[in-house]
Amino acid sequence: MARLLPLLSLLLLSLSTLAAPTTASGSMILHERILTPRSWQPLARAPPAHTLRLRISLSQPRMPELHTALLAVSDPGHELYGQHLSKGEVEALARPREEAVSAVERWLADAGVDLGKVERSPAGDTLILTVPVSMAEALLGAEYHLFSHRSTGEHIVRTTAFSLPAEVHPHVRTVQPTTLFARPRALRSPVRALQPLADAVFDGAEGAASAASSCKTSVTPACLESLYATTGYTASANATMLGITGYLEQYANAQDLQSFYKGYAESAVGSTFQTVLVNGGENDQTLSAAGTEANLDTQYGGALTYPVPNVFYSTGGSPPFNPDDAEDSNTNEPYAEWLDYVLALDSDDLPSVVSTSYGDDEQTVPESYALAVCDQFAQLGARGVSVIFASGDSGVGPSADECYSNDGTDTQMFIPNFPASCPYVTTVGATTSTGPEIAASFSGGGFSNYFAQPSYQASAVASFLSTLGNEYSGLYNASGRAYPDVSAQGENFIIYVSGAPGQVDGTSCSTPTFASVITLVNDALVRAGKAPLGFLNPFLYGAGLGGLTDVTEGSNPGCGTKGFEAGEGWDPVTGLGTPVFTTLRTLAGA
Ligand SMILES: *[C@@H]1O[C@H](CO)[C@@H](O)[C@H](O)[C@H]1NC(C)=O
Ligand SMILES: *[C@@H]1O[C@H](CO)[C@@H](O)[C@H](O)[C@H]1NC(C)=O
Repeated sequence: MARLLPLLSLLLLSLSTLAAPTTASGSMILHERILTPRSWQPLARAPPAHTLRLRISLSQPRMPELHTALLAVSDPGHELYGQHLSKGEVEALARPREEAVSAVERWLADAGVDLGKVERSPAGDTLILTVPVSMAEALLGAEYHLFSHRSTGEHIVRTTAFSLPAEVHPHVRTVQPTTLFARPRALRSPVRALQPLADAVFDGAEGAASAASSCKTSVTPACLESLYATTGYTASANATMLGITGYLEQYANAQDLQSFYKGYAESAVGSTFQTVLVNGGENDQTLSAAGTEANLDTQYGGALTYPVPNVFYSTGGSPPFNPDDAEDSNTNEPYAEWLDYVLALDSDDLPSVVSTSYGDDEQTVPESYALAVCDQFAQLGARGVSVIFASGDSGVGPSADECYSNDGTDTQMFIPNFPASCPYVTTVGATTSTGPEIAASFSGGGFSNYFAQPSYQASAVASFLSTLGNEYSGLYNASGRAYPDVSAQGENFIIYVSGAPGQVDGTSCSTPTFASVITLVNDALVRAGKAPLGFLNPFLYGAGLGGLTDVTEGSNPGCGTKGFEAGEGWDPVTGLGTPVFTTLRTLAGA
């Protein structure tokens, strides 16, 4: 309550000084209108002086060519397989039309924007300008409001609709922050967050840990190496690189890493990850500031791929921000900032695999924005990077009362996750137990409402759907991109956080694990003089299928249902199954 007082007084002040809305010329065309997502509550008009880092994404007429090129270079059956595109080639396919750029520049200049201060992405498809809310409202014929999150109390400044002048409208994919209410979450199971673990258990698990079966009770790097057949493979320190993304002020702690290595990855003791700060990201190494997500990802990524260099990207720029401060502009969505950074890198500096354990409900991400971001992941894939995401930790959706559409019709439905639903990333679900592995009950899975089903998975998904029959019909979109693609262990991971051992669950555990196995396949490929795998899905659903162990038991309840069931072949619980490194490596040709 105490912190609401200054906020409210600021708002009252801004309401009283608010000029009449400056609606621009009559030729504005509505670009997007959404309903306020049910988890956000509007409080008041946004303070006019509050600044926004406005990101304008221009239309990309050659994007279909980029998709075609991506699928060609990623398909082992295609003559162009492995011939990943250069930075320049990708930028040429991502470039907007000249007339789009000039129309947008004219619009901005007429409104008084200093074009010299506008930042541009290397392909010229994104323009970024920092403007006060009052200017954004004039440009976009919008009304920004301050919203608070109903359960966390976080605040953001957004509008539920925006328009563009007729001359600009056809040239723009999206402008954000406008209608984007998503808050990417670290995907750890809500069932069990970090549980403390007695030192004795931490020490005691060490000896037994090298058997695959010990993953049943406590997961360690050694049991995963045994389970997924990487034991005995020695990687090189200079052939490839694993990237791990961190958002939301999650710091990966170097001291915890050493404590973890001392217990579970002795050969890696003394090695560490490189931290790269993106968009004002920070790197607080105080032990108490260690992030569970960041530590989990770096400890397993590092242990499983040692001595492959790991890069931890700490990206700043996400809610919550301090709404008491009218000048605070920290209201952006972070994937976009990370993508700007990484797409601008030379190919030699790109990691060959990137693991991300964050996501949000697809319907909290506006469709135009989801499509634009997914196309940026496609650009990374075309350059030969395997982009790997967690599938989510709520099965087919959260509790029954949260499983409704947000389009005004309140239709009951399963709730898919984004970026898991992007067809140009590889999405990882969770398993547990061994001999056989079974689906973890929280393993996120389902069907996108934004992205059509890609051809690489058509036959695998058709088999599943014919077995499913009419069950859940109407609750999911049978023609949408289906996920997860694969899975890996996701329960009882032993980690070290803030100086103490603990155990965690989540697709957050599965994602760096699967990413690590792919990193080792890439290591073998590069050392054999071959291209890394790049975008994985055409390989996984095709020639690489034999390198995955099908998981046929378990289900992913949610939305008041028992969820989908794992079965023979692909399913929306565990995907195609869990990795077998030695076979994947052979099938990949290394
Ligand atoms: C890695 O280093 C080794 C030894 O220094 C060298 O022989 C090899 O060519 C390097 N490999 C790559 C891919 O640069
Ligand atoms: C189902 O998915 C298709 C393909 O992406 C899409 O065009 C359609 O709008 C979706 N249906 C619903 C109800 O969201």
